[in-house]
Amino acid sequence: MIKTKFTEMLGVQHPIMLAGMNWITTPKLVSAVCNAGGLGILATAASTPEETRKNIQEIRSLTDKPFGINQILIGPGAKENVAVAIEEKVPIINYSLGKPWFIDEVHAYGGKVMGTVALARHAARAEQLGCDMLAVTGHEAAAHGDVATSMVLIPLVASMVKIPIIAAGGIYDGRGVAAALLLGASAVSMGTRFIVTQESDVHDNFKNLIIKASEQDTLYSDVFDGMPGRVLKSPGAEAIMKSGLNLIDSMKSALEIKKILNLSTTKFLALSKDMMKSEEGKSLLMQARQANGTIKHLKALREGDEKEGFMFAGQCVGGIQDIPTCKELIDRIIAEAENEIESARQKISA
Ligand SMILES: Cc1cc2nc3c(=O)[nH]c(=O)nc-3n(C[C@H](O)[C@H](O)[C@H](O)COP(=O)(O)O)c2cc1C
Repeated sequence: MIKTKFTEMLGVQHPIMLAGMNWITTPKLVSAVCNAGGLGILATAASTPEETRKNIQEIRSLTDKPFGINQILIGPGAKENVAVAIEEKVPIINYSLGKPWFIDEVHAYGGKVMGTVALARHAARAEQLGCDMLAVTGHEAAAHGDVATSMVLIPLVASMVKIPIIAAGGIYDGRGVAAALLLGASAVSMGTRFIVTQESDVHDNFKNLIIKASEQDTLYSDVFDGMPGRVLKSPGAEAIMKSGLNLIDSMKSALEIKKILNLSTTKFLALSKDMMKSEEGKSLLMQARQANGTIKHLKALREGDEKEGFMFAGQCVGGIQDIPTCKELIDRIIAEAENEIESARQKISA
């Protein structure tokens, strides 16, 4: 049993978190991780407030363990989804990209707020604002890590802040967990590794592509959704890298997203204006690019379309070789981590 500030603060068995991933962290996957002793996080940015409430209630019907939601604060529906999570008294509210306005409200019902950061200066700021813990994302990670790798960023942030930090990016086994704890983290967050589990509904084509991939088989660029991000190398991803942003496709995708999220034209335009004002959304084409990325991402994970779609994934694809259940995976990783920690001194002095 590995006990840390993270397990004690949140009342979970193991220092392992399922990272919030839009469309992937379904109630089934979130509750499987919670029931296996980890912390499951439901990503809500791609859901309407009604879907968010339904998903939260479904998680509660599948597990009595603590869980969280992850909301990107600069996109459509952020205010509404956070409000639903607060009404539902979700134990952990994890946010990324943006400034949290809800910390006092979450604390009022005994909940905790977890900021996601990829820069040391953002970590210090999030602690000042009152966050209870931080997910710190390295360059190796799937999706939107920044330029510093976990090896540099985790100890740097650990010595800057007093709140517990959760290492995200590149972790897929017990060695990674042991190393993250030594670097100063209180837990790890895994995205890519949990995509390749029995309870993940990602299309088998992409699970198999991840299993076949080496550590070199990812691409990092802002061409996929407008922000620098990491995806799995696949025919579709390579085609997007070559052709760059297609403006007409992007505009079409933006309208499809408006439909998926059930947004009125007034709301859609107001959100576009808000995004352009934010630090991360200042590019004029940001929203269209994000929409384009979302549609192509859905093609990959739902339809398994390797030619048109692409899938966010981290460098740890190189270390993923099987499709276990979440419980098998968590039990194995914790046993490996305990073993690594136990035998470290012996190995080093031998
Ligand atoms: C398919 C996919 C979708 C993601 N969606 C989100 C998201 O909606 N919000 C967020 O904060 N991070 C998102 N991420 C990033 C993860 O939360 C996490 O930081 C990352 O997966 C950690 O790196 P790893 O994949 O190496 O474990 C996503 C990652 C993947 C693979």
